[in-house]
Amino acid sequence: MPRLPILEDLGDLAGKRVLVRTDFNVPMAGPDNARVITDDFRIRAALPTINWLQERGATVVCASHLGRPKGQISEKYSMAPVRARLHELAPGVELLENLRFNPGEEANSADFVKQLVSGFDAYVNDAFGAAHRSHASVVGPPLTLPSAAGRLLQREVEVLGNLREHPKRPFIAVLGGAKVSDKLGVIEALLQKVDALVIGGGMCFTFLAAKGMPVGDSICEIDQLNVCKKLLAGDKPIYLPEDLVGLDANGEYATFGVRIPDGAKGLDIGPGTAAAFTDVIMDARTVFWNGPMGVFEDTRFANGTKTIAQAVADTKAYTIVGGGDSAAALAQFGLDDEVDHVSTGGGASLEFLELGDLPGLAALRGAPNVR
Ligand code: 3PG
Ligand code: MG
Repeated sequence: MPRLPILEDLGDLAGKRVLVRTDFNVPMAGPDNARVITDDFRIRAALPTINWLQERGATVVCASHLGRPKGQISEKYSMAPVRARLHELAPGVELLENLRFNPGEEANSADFVKQLVSGFDAYVNDAFGAAHRSHASVVGPPLTLPSAAGRLLQREVEVLGNLREHPKRPFIAVLGGAKVSDKLGVIEALLQKVDALVIGGGMCFTFLAAKGMPVGDSICEIDQLNVCKKLLAGDKPIYLPEDLVGLDANGEYATFGVRIPDGAKGLDIGPGTAAAFTDVIMDARTVFWNGPMGVFEDTRFANGTKTIAQAVADTKAYTIVGGGDSAAALAQFGLDDEVDHVSTGGGASLEFLELGDLPGLAALRGAPNVR
């Protein structure tokens, strides 16, 4: 396999125009016409690459998607707030408008690729969080432009590649987040690599239901029950919640065992579960965490995620946290400096762990300066 080209492979960049694909898909809040960035981690993460290119005399033009505007121009997804923050952090950098305003981005249209690369001398991909998408700005430019992975992409591949190939054992993965179906492929692949799996968050209810527990109105993907049953029947331990908290049928805060009554809804792991998961995390030598344990934006349901974040911060294990929500949770609890690696990619880090490669990486390896 040809190696991944890095910035040094671009040669002399003085006076050159470089298109940098970044993942500035940052969390935002507020009304559509006055959105504010709630976490600029992904913007700061691209600065080493931007600075490196500027120091070598290149003109840097960044391009990113923001949200899922589905090919429609909309104020809600305008890059303007991101551009303002970027200019504070890296003066002199241009930022194109939201790539997904053009339907050609997600369709990977050749015309849109042509439009994107026009006027550029080189392309850098530093958008690890979007490297699992075969979109025009991710896979198109390396067909014609000399290309390289930026520092952020390079580091992510190094760290996650090591995790995939030589983890210190016990290696455990802690998974949360809402949708099981999104993550089933990776759960199966992770089970081959880890010594144990810890499951919380919305996805735990499909597993609990697969064990025959009533889940009330909790989120549950009925069509995935059989797959979950099969996974549970494997030889690797899968830890599931033993208690939960949520809302009862009247919408009042309630605590439950593993059985959720009719009309009630589990929204976070309970304190007993959080303590049990903490023990597993403390005994591990490698921990990969992706996905919150509950609806932590609501302070009533933040304790599970907070306890797990604290355990990931406290354990002596090598710790990697992937995904926008888990990273945002760490930042919210002031623990983002306490883990070994915070990945800027959620879906991308899971897909890389599963497959060991991503469309964006394959595209870079095929660039004209590598072939
Ligand atoms: C993300 O935040 O997951 C990445 O920016 C990719 O965005 P997407 O899931 O909308 O493709
Ligand atoms: Mg995503």
